[in-house]
Amino acid sequence: MTTTEEHTPGPTTAEIGGVGHSVKRKEDDRFIQGGGQYIEDISLPGMLHLALLRSPLPHARIVSIDASAAEQLPGVVAVVTGEALAAHGLAWMPTLSGDTQAVLATDKVRFQGQEVAGVVAESPYIAWDALELIDVEYDALPPVINPKIALSSDAPVIRDDKEGQTDNSCYQWESGDKAATDQAFAQADKVVSIDTHYPRSHPAPLETCGCVADLNPVTGQATIYMTSQAPHAIRTLFAMVAGLPEENIRVVSPDIGGGFGNKVPIYPGYVVATAASLLIGKPVKWIESRSENLISTGFARDYYMHAHLAVRNDGTILGLRVNMVSDQGAFYSDAQPSKFRAGLFHVVTGSYDYPAAHVVTQGAYTNKAPGGVAYRCSFRITEASYLIERLVQNAAYELNMDPADFRMKNFIKPERFPYHTPTGFVYDSGQYAAALQKALDDVGYAGMPQEKEEARKEGKLVGVGIASFTEAVGAGPSKDYDIAGLKMFDSAELRVHPTGKAILKLGTKAQGQGHETTYAQIVANELGIPASDIAVREGDTDNTPYGLGTYASRSTPTSGAAAVVIARKLREKARTIAAHVLEASEEDLEWEPGRFFVTGAPDRGVTIQDIALAAYSNYPEGTEPGLEGVHYYDPPNLTYPFGSYVVVVEVDEETGVWKVRRMVAVDDCGVRINPMIVEGQICGGLAEGYAMSSMQYITFDEDGNCIGSSFADYLVPTSWETPRFQLDETVTPSPHHPIGAKGVGESATVGSPAAYVNAVIDALLPYGVRNIDMPVTPARVWAAMQEAKAG
Ligand code: CDP
Repeated sequence: MTTTEEHTPGPTTAEIGGVGHSVKRKEDDRFIQGGGQYIEDISLPGMLHLALLRSPLPHARIVSIDASAAEQLPGVVAVVTGEALAAHGLAWMPTLSGDTQAVLATDKVRFQGQEVAGVVAESPYIAWDALELIDVEYDALPPVINPKIALSSDAPVIRDDKEGQTDNSCYQWESGDKAATDQAFAQADKVVSIDTHYPRSHPAPLETCGCVADLNPVTGQATIYMTSQAPHAIRTLFAMVAGLPEENIRVVSPDIGGGFGNKVPIYPGYVVATAASLLIGKPVKWIESRSENLISTGFARDYYMHAHLAVRNDGTILGLRVNMVSDQGAFYSDAQPSKFRAGLFHVVTGSYDYPAAHVVTQGAYTNKAPGGVAYRCSFRITEASYLIERLVQNAAYELNMDPADFRMKNFIKPERFPYHTPTGFVYDSGQYAAALQKALDDVGYAGMPQEKEEARKEGKLVGVGIASFTEAVGAGPSKDYDIAGLKMFDSAELRVHPTGKAILKLGTKAQGQGHETTYAQIVANELGIPASDIAVREGDTDNTPYGLGTYASRSTPTSGAAAVVIARKLREKARTIAAHVLEASEEDLEWEPGRFFVTGAPDRGVTIQDIALAAYSNYPEGTEPGLEGVHYYDPPNLTYPFGSYVVVVEVDEETGVWKVRRMVAVDDCGVRINPMIVEGQICGGLAEGYAMSSMQYITFDEDGNCIGSSFADYLVPTSWETPRFQLDETVTPSPHHPIGAKGVGESATVGSPAAYVNAVIDALLPYGVRNIDMPVTPARVWAAMQEAKAG
């Protein structure tokens, strides 16, 4: 496959709608007509409702819980406490990162918003009212909010439930070669450093988390409808935690209103609802409120990062040193592959070619809600990408070089792929300079000095920021990647019906990414069956093959690849049947999309639809009837999408308010299955990157109160605030993916924050400002200017 400037459609026509066609999203008919089926839409006969009581304190011993008044309230069916769960061995649960987490607190509460008790009632309103009647006596303990303080020797131990835990260290992990890095630094002309915090943020999906647990006491069958991005893995873990036989558990993830990593972990609400349904014998529904979602589930980021770059005066990078402390909150409950305790943060060497790096990471427990979910990010790559792109920009300034030239000089050259990074990744393919050059041309980079000067005359500061990111998506390979011991591969099962229509079932689960359309396009590309004739099913563990789910942009690299392979296998079987129907030998048959024909006699052919009918009615003796199969795909490597984003901003010197003048995003995700959907994914990610860099901030006061528990405080940009984006592309296929595709879902969230911040820092060059932590609010910009003025 060749590298191109732009995508070109594959072998199929637009009517068939294979790879490279902007087929309209099938699922949108359902969504825009209000026909989606979300958890809140599910109502079962006799269904009860669960509400959770949450701790007002971030750190306290539980002295007593008196639920007698709540139990008396008419309509209340049961009050569930940690003590009651403990009797069934369910007060604590294992997490996806190998830690334990309280389902309902028994000994202590460890963050504000922690689940303390649950009320099951006939209506959600009664359940909420009853929460107020539960009397919990707490004995307050000093909260530890800052991870660096948490790691000091005199900090109170938060996880005293864990045997042998004598401090607040959650994990320690390093990567790279310390000796080689020390040597690189010894040879440096200059060492450039940055100290920055990637703040705690929240994926804030439109739909909050929830479930309906339906345990039939007669049959023992458990059906759990759940907002889960990984229904198969959750079923297995539920079987392990609750001791339920796995064949009796069916997890169904219906339509999901956005996930972004928020719906990967197992939350106490799921477990309490399931336990309650098991004990009461009726279906139980639990749905988070917006504030519950924002204060208790699925925080992201919260990385304190300190990095040094060793450089020569001519602009050559020699090595990188990184020290990072992550704030994990009270439980290490996000999903990290067990080999990589700080996720894929060690991709921090970025898009640059240098021999040495050493990355030291440490996680701290604090009295905050559990954090660290990969918010539209492949296991901590967003933080890494932000750090290196901020650092190289500053290095260019210190060397008096243009930041674009500095990057161009140090990029990994196309001929160096597959490229082995100093921290152990093997990048599959890339042409970084071409992507950056395109972005620079599109944004009018050559004219920037003049634009800056003209703006200065009008009293405005203009800056230009670049980020040239490399992503690593599509986990496995299973030899390196697992979640809680479950190896990371994924699957596709394809059946072509006698009438030539098909159904494709996968182990992944979309939350809005358009899988029903793009997976159908993959099969259309391979078999020539129109994409509109192919139904796609995901999310029901009884009716789809096993897989690890959708997050970390892994669907296209894993299940997408599995769909290609199984379609190709069926095409080979179709060849056998076609030869039988045409009374020709298999070797004499040629394929064109949708049809086999005899070489040299194009009129003697048979369509895939006729072959499908023959597979059930006229197949050769000794051939298994039917046209269906399943493939489990274990990728040989991650895929490495990349891109260059360039932002031009204008800063008001009087107020610190900044606005985006232009933003250009050049993305390369290899072969694009559906260019329109890819562009939608990129626009969404650029908007989220803008939100994080400019306005989103979940912080805590010194008493551990979470500030940011509603959309009045945690800001989500509307179309009014969101800048306009200009998109462009290069196409560098992945050499190991069967159609050359790389994942793209999170590229823009990963790449864009550094571009926005670099642009503001560039605008403030006259002030010599080198860092403002995100969110770069007008107040922070203004304060940075005042501080610089004061000297
Ligand atoms: O795992 P997730 O679906 O979030 O991420 P993805 O695999 O990057 O895919 C996001 C959406 O973009 C899906 O609908 C993909 O099929 C589509 N896509 C595409 O059309 N071409 C690519 N090269 C990558 C993704």
